[in-house]
Amino acid sequence: MNNSAKNIYKEEKRKKIKQELDIKRLPCAVGISESKFFENVGGIIRTINAFLLQEIVLDEKVYNKYACAGADKWENIIIQKDIISYFKKNNYTLIALEQHEKSIPLWDFKFPLKSAIIMGHEVQGMTDEMLNQCDFTIEIPQYGLVESLNVSTATSIALYEYSRQHRACL
Ligand SMILES: C[S@@+](CC[C@H](N)C(=O)[O-])C[C@H]1O[C@@H](n2cnc3c(N)ncnc32)[C@H](O)[C@@H]1O
Repeated sequence: MNNSAKNIYKEEKRKKIKQELDIKRLPCAVGISESKFFENVGGIIRTINAFLLQEIVLDEKVYNKYACAGADKWENIIIQKDIISYFKKNNYTLIALEQHEKSIPLWDFKFPLKSAIIMGHEVQGMTDEMLNQCDFTIEIPQYGLVESLNVSTATSIALYEYSRQHRACL
């Protein structure tokens, strides 16, 4: 088999595996429009693969293939300038994961099945404009001296909880 035939075979195999994964996906998504470190977005894509979510929606400036350690080839990565409009058009309930005075503690929150979880920037957090467009704001309670979690860590905790609530119901 020459190299081009090998590549076609590999791509066919990848598509087949991905189709099998697609059947088991939960109807949940993550959205990121601002990020300082590609490694954090790469870590989030790996977590999305672990919990098998529907998709991740990113502004093109936050996505770097090489920071994903290969996890991106199994995932539905949608590149969109306006992530909020994308989620609204696709009938997701928008959930800002952010520390805010109006936030609901994560353990009091029942995730709607079709949830889009929106993450903030590592330094600035989420803009008020974005927060105001979300249906809910939720936060992970913290008790130590460090004021916030790494964005990838925060996403993992929220997705674990979403998955705990919904995976068992499928
Ligand atoms: C490092 S934090 C941003 C901190 C930023 N300096 C601020 O004051 O908003 C990056 C992102 O991770 C998420 N995050 C971190 N800790 C969180 C928590 N305890 N609850 C909810 N979201 C959290 C939020 O999306 C936040 O915008």
